[in-house]
Amino acid sequence: MTDNSINVLVIGSGGREHALVWKIAQSPLVKKVYCAPGNAGMEGVAKLVPIGADELGNLLLFADENDIDLTVVGPEAPLVAGLVDAFENAGLMVVGPRKAAAMLEGSKVFMKGVLTRAGVPTARYEVHTSRSEAVAALQRFGAAVVIKADGLAAGKGVVVAKSRDEAVTAIDDMVVKKVFGPAGEKIILEETLIGEEASILAFCDGKNVIMMPSSQDHKRIGDGDTGPNTGGMGAYSPAPVITPELSDWIEKNVMLETLSTMAGEGNPYKGILYAGIMITAEGPKVLEFNCRFGDPECQPLMRRMKSDIVPVLFSIAEGDLSNTQVEWTEEPAVGVVMASKGYPGDYEKGKPISGLEEANGSPGAVVFHSGTKKGPAGEIVTNGGRVLCVTATGVTVGQAINRAYEAAGKIKFEGAVYRKDIGRRALER
Ligand code: AMP
Ligand code: GLY
Repeated sequence: MTDNSINVLVIGSGGREHALVWKIAQSPLVKKVYCAPGNAGMEGVAKLVPIGADELGNLLLFADENDIDLTVVGPEAPLVAGLVDAFENAGLMVVGPRKAAAMLEGSKVFMKGVLTRAGVPTARYEVHTSRSEAVAALQRFGAAVVIKADGLAAGKGVVVAKSRDEAVTAIDDMVVKKVFGPAGEKIILEETLIGEEASILAFCDGKNVIMMPSSQDHKRIGDGDTGPNTGGMGAYSPAPVITPELSDWIEKNVMLETLSTMAGEGNPYKGILYAGIMITAEGPKVLEFNCRFGDPECQPLMRRMKSDIVPVLFSIAEGDLSNTQVEWTEEPAVGVVMASKGYPGDYEKGKPISGLEEANGSPGAVVFHSGTKKGPAGEIVTNGGRVLCVTATGVTVGQAINRAYEAAGKIKFEGAVYRKDIGRRALER
């Protein structure tokens, strides 16, 4: 690899992808960064390509015709659909798991099976396909039970039920009404775990892992973790609940055990592995795996990554991280998501956004766009539920929080909502 020689394609359009193109574009190795389909915030760092993340054939054609040396996949759906298989079969370098390995996120039943065979601690569970058997099984779980659709359900396929009625409704929705279609043909009933959650991400080459610093998401829409679940309203890194000892334990007993089990089954996992972990009184237990970077966790993580990310991504695509090191800043980073009024329900689009330049000029701040586009007069307007992720670093987590909110305060659009307590849990510790 020589300087200024590599063309990179990032697939996706959210804040995670903006943070990735922002980081990749800083590499001296890179000639050009493309993002398909991308968003308005990326202009200046990436060339937008009007191809959707689900248009596998068109993406392959684009990569082939535009001398793309490395492709990085943001969201899970193209991975589960087999994008990496298609790119690798065409001789292209790509970062992400093949379809069979992406099933760690694509099927919760598959994931639970891997965890069990790998001896990784996780919640006790049963798999069901029939309503009557699932309802009868509830007595084995007590009042608090979690119902999960097996397949991808855009983050909505998990119900943490607080009563038997709620559990039965969830079973009916998934198995009888089929609100998630085929994704809910199989369901998991699972014991409710109590504790604090953290996101643990690692770079994986099929055999070796390089752990990223810990982070924590804020999934509920409202302050104090109230209201409906969202894709994530903010994140910070590091998460103090993950001590260095816990991180080492998770690396060895979760990440490496999972990788060696999958490799042993002829299904090696290569790409980014994201473990959602509950730190319970009995120790860490895996809630879920994602086969990609988290959004919004990726945004503070990219702010903290000191090393050039491009050689790391290349080593993953080549399948050998054994000679790669990654350095991170000690400084904490915080990301506050600004959303459209009504999200995660219905919301309006097309609201002009002001103050972006002032926010980006604010101390320690970088604003990543999630759902934005160019309006008719070239102005930037809202184009999604999650609109922006305002990140900041600081010497302390307190300073990072203050700086993120100072920057967010400079941004205005009609109906803007954001949580006021991102990172507070880290402050309290
Ligand atoms: P998942 O997609 O499986 O991570 O579920 C989404 C969210 O539901 C998690 O981030 C947790 O907040 C919650 N959750 C999932 N499984 C459990 C469980 N067994 N006990 C408690 N909360 C859970
Ligand atoms: N932040 C949660 C996710 O990316 O799934």
